[in-house]
Amino acid sequence: MGESNHAIVFGASGLIVWALVNQLLSPYPSAGTFSKVTAITNRPIILSESHWPEPASNRPDLQLISGFDLRHGDGATLAETLKRAVRDVESVTHIYYLVFTAVEDDTEEFATNLRMFKNVIDAHGLISPNLRFVAFTGGTRGYGIYTPGGTFTPPLTEDMANKLPIETADTVVYTAYRKLLHAKNKGKNWTWCEVCPDAIIGFTPNGSQFSLALHWAQYLSLWAYNNGIGPGTSGLRTTAVQVPFPGNVASANSLFSPVSSSTLARFMIYASLHPETCGGGQLFNIADNQTACKYGEIWPRLASWFGLVGVGPVEDSQALDNTLKAGELPETTELLTPGEYFAEHKDIFAELGRANAVNGGVGAGRRQLDSVGYWLTFDRQLSLEKLRGTGFEGDRDHVQGWLESFEMFRKAGLIL
Ligand SMILES: *[C@@H]1O[C@H](CO)[C@@H](O)[C@H](O)[C@H]1NC(C)=O
Ligand SMILES: *[C@@H]1O[C@H](CO)[C@@H](O)[C@H](O)[C@H]1NC(C)=O
Ligand SMILES: *[C@@H]1O[C@H](CO)[C@@H](O)[C@H](O)[C@H]1NC(C)=O
Repeated sequence: MGESNHAIVFGASGLIVWALVNQLLSPYPSAGTFSKVTAITNRPIILSESHWPEPASNRPDLQLISGFDLRHGDGATLAETLKRAVRDVESVTHIYYLVFTAVEDDTEEFATNLRMFKNVIDAHGLISPNLRFVAFTGGTRGYGIYTPGGTFTPPLTEDMANKLPIETADTVVYTAYRKLLHAKNKGKNWTWCEVCPDAIIGFTPNGSQFSLALHWAQYLSLWAYNNGIGPGTSGLRTTAVQVPFPGNVASANSLFSPVSSSTLARFMIYASLHPETCGGGQLFNIADNQTACKYGEIWPRLASWFGLVGVGPVEDSQALDNTLKAGELPETTELLTPGEYFAEHKDIFAELGRANAVNGGVGAGRRQLDSVGYWLTFDRQLSLEKLRGTGFEGDRDHVQGWLESFEMFRKAGLIL
């Protein structure tokens, strides 16, 4: 350990990558644990606008390589590319693999994602003799939550990942990742683990199609503005303005376990530095708080940050029948969905000098994020017993990660 650790972070969606690099540079867990951090991303990140810690004597060196596409070639060609692009690639000790590429066709999505991870592992097998640990993120899809109504009775425990019905397991790429790593680390001096978050709450300087916090923050920000509340308005409004939960009753009342991207990032780093307790191909659930929460419970606290009064859903249809498939919306909704509301009012952001709010929002993820309030009608909370057994930090408030993200969105000009 010590001076020689070199972390390499691979990511496509900015959400976890941003938090992981931010924690490593903070520096978490302490100055000197890592001397080098390399971040490899698909989407462009402009360093001066990254909001990461500035260079300092106690900060690891950062090399950022963006616009990198892992889909082409094989392990050997990727190894050549990495050798050319990454300073001291032979000194890499820790790989954090956070890539997920969504593809329209499920079979192709599976194959593309598996190929990318295999290329990364094969490449580092050729060029990184000091590799000690590989950590990757799975997700609750690995517990069958994409099956309407869910698959298992919660709380979801790690052993359930191996009990998925075969036809579901065949659609979940994490199962294939496990097989890949089990095969590839035979006789090698590195070990690995998988971390399973449900909803991830966090900041990126330039949006992310998986960012529910940004999607709702932009909605609440525009709603407040249109009702004469908050930045950009006269600020004279004194009567309370309500904003209903964007979804149905069953989704507002179902139990789940959100995690802030900073907690997720810290645990991945923590696990990778404790190979004896966290390695060996183990799976760990991760969440901010072992008491599950409900969107309907946190909605008023999220709305209140924008000066609004969050109230329950206006929808009463589609309540409990679990008829919607994963990512689906009902044919009609009483109110505009957050995505539709954004589309109708986004010019306000541009008019008030927040062009980045429009260009750097959730983009193509809008429909998927709109559906969160509708199809997730069933309980899907995570057991944190195994996580707590590792000695990692304890509970935090469910809403804290949201509010920290909102502050950062405002700083980065992504909301009013
Ligand atoms: C394997 O890793 C350990 C530290 O985790 C190190 O002490 C040992 O020298 C390594 N062995 C080889 C063959 O690299
Ligand atoms: C954010 O992303 C959009 C679209 O990719 C791009 O047009 C814009 O320049 C980016 N802004 C920053 C600050 O990176
Ligand atoms: C964890 O969540 C519960 C339920 O919302 C709350 O009472 C508790 O204070 C939270 N823990 C921390 C440390 O905030």
